[in-house]
Amino acid sequence: MTFKTREPSAKLAHIEACLNADVEYQKTTGLEKYDFVNQAAKSISLKEIDTSTCMLGKRLNAPLMIAPMTGGIERGLELNQRWARAAEHWQIAMSVGSQRIGLEDPSKAAFFQIRKHAPTTLIFGNIGAAQICRDFGIDEAKKAVEMIEADALFIHFNAMQEACQDGDVDFKDLDRKLTEMCSALKKVGIPVFAREVCFGLSPEAAKRLIDVGVDGIDCAGAGGTSWAKVEALCAKNDRQKKMGHCFGEWGIPTATSILNVRSVSTDIPLIATGGLRSGIDVAKVIALGADLGAMARPMLLAACTSEQALFELIEDVIAQLRVCMFGAGTPSLKDLKNILF
Ligand SMILES: Cc1cc2nc3c(=O)[nH]c(=O)nc-3n(C[C@H](O)[C@H](O)[C@H](O)COP(=O)(O)O)c2cc1C
Repeated sequence: MTFKTREPSAKLAHIEACLNADVEYQKTTGLEKYDFVNQAAKSISLKEIDTSTCMLGKRLNAPLMIAPMTGGIERGLELNQRWARAAEHWQIAMSVGSQRIGLEDPSKAAFFQIRKHAPTTLIFGNIGAAQICRDFGIDEAKKAVEMIEADALFIHFNAMQEACQDGDVDFKDLDRKLTEMCSALKKVGIPVFAREVCFGLSPEAAKRLIDVGVDGIDCAGAGGTSWAKVEALCAKNDRQKKMGHCFGEWGIPTATSILNVRSVSTDIPLIATGGLRSGIDVAKVIALGADLGAMARPMLLAACTSEQALFELIEDVIAQLRVCMFGAGTPSLKDLKNILF
């Protein structure tokens, strides 16, 4: 089997580019259009606010995830291990970035090892839909999960990003391959979640994903890191740079993306990513219908500062979520549903 390998230096370039504020959308997530009603006279104690939840049978301290970012290079391993220690400490979920490098070159699989740093918490593996349409089959999907002893597998959909970087843009056989993969992985007990990377999901896209048999969705929408802008910064030539800039604001805002998924399924497990920057944002995505909120770039910036900065960021986000629930008079996450105005 011949692979069109992405060189590890691209992984480093993505990390460097994402440290730069130019990668953020000007377009907003749409979460700012919603508010909670302040409940000034509720018989409720801050101490008793319960932020805990459950996903795929694992209990989480808060409905929070460190979104997939990297792996397969030394710098990626250091970052993933730092995120893994934080995820384990706070009992939140995390995912590694695309495991393509580790699958194409097994000597790089060691640069994804995080389980010993997060022995109990919920961990997702990650492969690309573009690779499933080309070279990767059921064996590679299983290997990705085994490589990191993951609890579940993300398949990321990034057609617009691939188009901006002259990458893999042939998704023609997607439905058949995904249907086969979801069915085979279901038989061996591996849950599959489809995820956008930041361009959001339409109701049609969400329905197709549910129809092919995914077990969950991350509807990552616009309003935070724009992967077209990242590709503009990492472009190898002027044409790619122009393409990245041209589509820099492309995408369905995160709030709409959540509502789009919920318009076609009220119960599929749903993660929301894209522009979440505080515990109030996490509360809002839960209120709109998501089960977990995930953050990428803020976790990157904090982890690149220090392990302590990362732990403090997560502590702050959970504390903000708790105070938001207190202010809204909602003792548990289920009470948050449908109370935005
Ligand atoms: C440095 C970096 C690398 C990323 N690499 C991946 C990846 O390999 N696979 C993936 O599914 N998403 C990847 N993402 C996308 C994020 O998981 C997330 O969907 C996106 O950045 C929007 O979230 P944010 O606004 O909180 O950054 C990456 C994000 C960052 C910042």
